[in-house]
Amino acid sequence: NSVSFCKGYKRMNKFYVTTPIYYVNSYPHLGHVYTTIIADTVARYKRQRGSEVFFLTGTDEHGEKLERAAAARDLTPQAFVDEIAGEYKRTWAQLDIAYDDFIRTTEPRHEEVVAQLWRRLRDQGDIYSAPYEGLYCVACESFYLEKDLLPGNLCPDHKRPVEKVSEEGYFFRLSKYEQPLLDLYARCPDFIEPTKRMNEVRTFVQSGLKDLSVSRSSFKWGVPVPDAPGHVIYVWIDALTNYFSALQKPAVRQAFWGTAEQPQAIHLVGKEITRFHAVYWPAMLMAAGLPVPRKIVAHGWWTVDGEKMSKTLGNVVDPRTLAEDLS
Ligand code: ME8
Ligand code: MG
Repeated sequence: NSVSFCKGYKRMNKFYVTTPIYYVNSYPHLGHVYTTIIADTVARYKRQRGSEVFFLTGTDEHGEKLERAAAARDLTPQAFVDEIAGEYKRTWAQLDIAYDDFIRTTEPRHEEVVAQLWRRLRDQGDIYSAPYEGLYCVACESFYLEKDLLPGNLCPDHKRPVEKVSEEGYFFRLSKYEQPLLDLYARCPDFIEPTKRMNEVRTFVQSGLKDLSVSRSSFKWGVPVPDAPGHVIYVWIDALTNYFSALQKPAVRQAFWGTAEQPQAIHLVGKEITRFHAVYWPAMLMAAGLPVPRKIVAHGWWTVDGEKMSKTLGNVVDPRTLAEDLS
């Protein structure tokens, strides 16, 4: 029966929970604190109940958005991301967040795994090169179709104009994974929670998947595409890989990534990045012959005057001063 696979997931005494890795374009705000406190709470609960827990958080440090943010401060990208990654670590220390590892995408241990994954997908023909033209939101680090934009070609999330990008680049054969993804959702109806988000994702995949543009050549700040000078790997391919790259020792990887029958990863995310986690990431893992995550849990947004609290919009509440006021 179609649900039995997921019902067949056993309760394990191992528990792997992650937060998104946050962009270091600016300081953490209440939204980042929200996801991180949920993860910390669940991790503490599981530890108390006797589980062996791995709680991962970290920072997403590559991409055009960060290259531009650094330039605006007259800093090298590395100096800039070092500063803000430090702010994230200080905030989590102040709030007593007990993570087991903090991964930064500029660390060699991570970049090596991203390059390995790329080579694996390329060698089996799931990455190919072709010209590309599209509308890009730098704040989302994501392409949009014109029909999904607000009037005036504004990004629906950041309310800022998208930019026309036209490059020769590399594509991931996402279309090949349309049916395998639909099969996964059918087998595991709780793969994405809440159900409302599962329904959105299923509808999106059913409407047909196009291959994904997975490299950029108009800027430098990223993991180099292996054997293709001048190209960097799309920041979302790089970023999603953190959940796997952080589990470096074979025994730790075996225990906390799990197997096809007993996958372990539980990804907590905000609803705006559900698609990356519930479509692109499992497709990449299937392509690499690796177990998919156990579950994606997507939550809603803290808002200010009806708008999403966001670094890009600048309407943020600073958790550090808030914590000082309350302690
Ligand atoms: O998206 N309300 O990073 P990001 C609730 N680097 N949660 C919020 C929030 C709000 N107003 N604002 C942010 C990225 N969050 C990528 C992720 S993962 C491989 C890469 C939380 O800095 C929420 O968890 O924009 C959201 O998904 C995340 O911060 C986005 O952080
Ligand atoms: Mg964001």
